[in-house]
Amino acid sequence: MLRPYRDWLALMVAACAFAAPLPAAAPDAEIAALKQQIAELKQHAYHPELGEQMLGIQIRHARLWFAGAARNWTLAAYELQELKEAFDAVVEQNPEHAVFQPQRLADVLPAMTRAPVAALRDAIDRASKPEFERAYDALSAACTGCHRAAGNDFLVIQRPTAPLLDNLRVAPPAGGGRK
Ligand code: HEC
Repeated sequence: MLRPYRDWLALMVAACAFAAPLPAAAPDAEIAALKQQIAELKQHAYHPELGEQMLGIQIRHARLWFAGAARNWTLAAYELQELKEAFDAVVEQNPEHAVFQPQRLADVLPAMTRAPVAALRDAIDRASKPEFERAYDALSAACTGCHRAAGNDFLVIQRPTAPLLDNLRVAPPAGGGRK
């Protein structure tokens, strides 16, 4: 029975805060201190290394293959989206990775992956396995191309032949799934 009262109180507090005159612009010293704090927080925040992020990308890339091979287009669309988010996270968290200097990873990665990712999306939308396979190979070539550009020619990406984990069912649900 306390709740309504507390809700009311919260409302009043919010109303007072709203009604109170806005404080004058914070003094420069305060802003500087806040900036300093933010910089320190950023420094201590978790920054995954590129190699670590690549491991997650490798898993999505493999899962995407098996989803497409099973014509489970709903799962394939999901894995592609996850892969794209993983690429976005690389750009966000390692935008200036030393290996591509003077170029920026934040420019290199989208330039190399945008077209194959879009082609995969189209293939999945059309539920076309031949298109999916072509686009998948183009993506793998883009992965390998970037590794080469980074001086890691030995990191060659290909179609997987055996699933690393098989506890995620790839067979489409009974009834055929989306298409
Ligand atoms: C922007 C360029 C770029 C793209 C695109 C890229 N990679 Fe990488 N990848 C790298 C670099 C650089 C490394 C080496 C990282 C390191 O050593 O810290 C790497 C490393 C790897 C590794 C080795 C990780 C390990 O620890 O063994 C794998 C696996 C990998 N990438 C998979 C992929 C896959 C799969 C794709 C495509 C779906 C891909 N990468 C796309 C730049 C890229």
